[in-house]
Amino acid sequence: MELLKQRILEDGKSLPGGILKVDSFINHQMDSKLMYKIAEEFVKRFKGCKVDKIVTIESSGIAPAIMTGLILDLPVIFIKKKRPSTMSKFKMFTTVVHSFTKNIDCDICISSEFLKKGDRVLFIDDFIANGNTAFGMLEIAKQASIDIKGMGFVIEKSFQNGGNKLRELGYNVESLAIVDDLSDCKIVLH
Ligand code: G4P
Repeated sequence: MELLKQRILEDGKSLPGGILKVDSFINHQMDSKLMYKIAEEFVKRFKGCKVDKIVTIESSGIAPAIMTGLILDLPVIFIKKKRPSTMSKFKMFTTVVHSFTKNIDCDICISSEFLKKGDRVLFIDDFIANGNTAFGMLEIAKQASIDIKGMGFVIEKSFQNGGNKLRELGYNVESLAIVDDLSDCKIVLH
């Protein structure tokens, strides 16, 4: 997606350790018009996939997911990174994911109230790096017996291989901008 690639080159910052800082337009301050265009691109790329709902993970996946849900007129559910303290009669699907950027393990969960057996799901997130979060989603999909029809990422870091691992498993993966290299404070896009 050219507009996104241009924006990454203009406003993104390559930090030591292979981190791309995009907090001026994606994951702290958000450019809503760009987010809407990102959603339009996801809709185009997943055209033909029949889906019932969109699933994302808090917090930075929510903006692109809700815009996509708005265009497709679909419900959007986000996976929580903390168990709600209020009791619910619904079972929670849970798993643990390791965050590469924060170097912490995180319990993620989603209520069975909102994911039903057989649901056809489009998963949307801001980044795919090693794929830990995406593999957490796949574990939840297994527990919930849902069908992942597509996995859309705003930015893929190809040097961390999560996207390719998903493709090798046969998942329908679309990334709107692919970063091949972030060494020496450069940003090299695919
Ligand atoms: P992975 O799930 O693909 O393995 O990646 P990782 O462990 O790195 O993901 C953990 C968090 O780090 C995710 O957000 C992901 O979006 C973010 N992330 C991964 N690589 C980069 C990067 O190069 N730049 C930025 N800005 N973020 C990156 P999170 O920590 O869960 O935070 P949030 O969604 O609440 O913002």
